[in-house]
Amino acid sequence: MRESPILFMAPLAGVTNRVFRQLVIEQGADYVCTEMISVQGLIQGNPKTHSLLDLKTGEPSGIQLFGREPEDFVRAAAIIVEQYRPLFIDINMGCPVPKVVKGGMGAALMREPARVEALVRALVENISVPVSVKIRLGWSPEELTGPEVARRCEEGGASWITVHGRTRDQFYRGQADWEGIGAIARERKVPVVANGDIFSARDAEQMMSITGCPRIMVGRGALGNPWIFKRIKERFRGEKEGSVSLREILSIMKKHMEGQVELRGSEKKAILEMRRHFSWYIKGWPGAREFRQRLMGVKSKAEVYRELERFFQQVEEERR
Ligand SMILES: Cc1cc2nc3c(=O)[nH]c(=O)nc-3n(C[C@H](O)[C@H](O)[C@H](O)COP(=O)(O)O)c2cc1C
Repeated sequence: MRESPILFMAPLAGVTNRVFRQLVIEQGADYVCTEMISVQGLIQGNPKTHSLLDLKTGEPSGIQLFGREPEDFVRAAAIIVEQYRPLFIDINMGCPVPKVVKGGMGAALMREPARVEALVRALVENISVPVSVKIRLGWSPEELTGPEVARRCEEGGASWITVHGRTRDQFYRGQADWEGIGAIARERKVPVVANGDIFSARDAEQMMSITGCPRIMVGRGALGNPWIFKRIKERFRGEKEGSVSLREILSIMKKHMEGQVELRGSEKKAILEMRRHFSWYIKGWPGAREFRQRLMGVKSKAEVYRELERFFQQVEEERR
């Protein structure tokens, strides 16, 4: 038996709310985090920003922040650490979105190593929970600042560094460069969490062997597939990877929906958000398109469940 890597669920905007985080924890994820939350929005008391802070008191989750000024990070972190006691605060240095980088935030910080160090240090000195940083390999192939930024994070006192194996100018295109992650990890004393393109337990194994990192992070590979964490752990235990039965998938989808209704306090809102998730769960299945279309007209949870039951019955019959 080999030791399983420590498994992180990646922060995904619009996805990793409290319900999804709970779901992946039940499926074997060791660490979870909120999506990126604006420090400016927190300081200004923006209600939309604050609604992203959906941690239950004591929930074992990190909170990810994005911003630019060290003072803003410290002010925002002071508010949330007091109130929510997150497991850690993560700093976003990977977001490639133009609106964010134009403001010198997210992946734009990959071009300012000195600021990175000041920022990490300010947080580490002023808050009582671990500070981690999520970076990319660099800004572009011409500006591979990842190794320097990672060094600055360590100097500033970060507890770990997550490296997404792409540059900013790749956004999410092309393949993640796992060798590049490994090169950064080998230079650092603090743990590096390897991230990018893990879609199966086999990928996880290869990621670990190429990067040498016993900590890995899964993002898109968990969409409609939250049990990927369980599969990875089974593989490392030397067990045959289990499969999820149709009934289990249906029950997870319902549980996901229930949680979403509770979180939003509205069946209608929950249904709107769950449409994407439902599509991910049944991606590539026969009849998926028709099911998605039927869901468009549905307004209550009871109707959703009726449609789900009908669809799963159909799939079961076809698989017999
Ligand atoms: C829809 C979407 C939303 C994302 N939101 C965030 C975010 O809020 N914070 C962050 O650090 N990264 C975010 N990312 C990047 C992921 O955390 C991750 O680094 C990236 O998807 C690569 O990992 P993967 O190949 O396992 O998905 C997002 C990615 C996607 C596709």
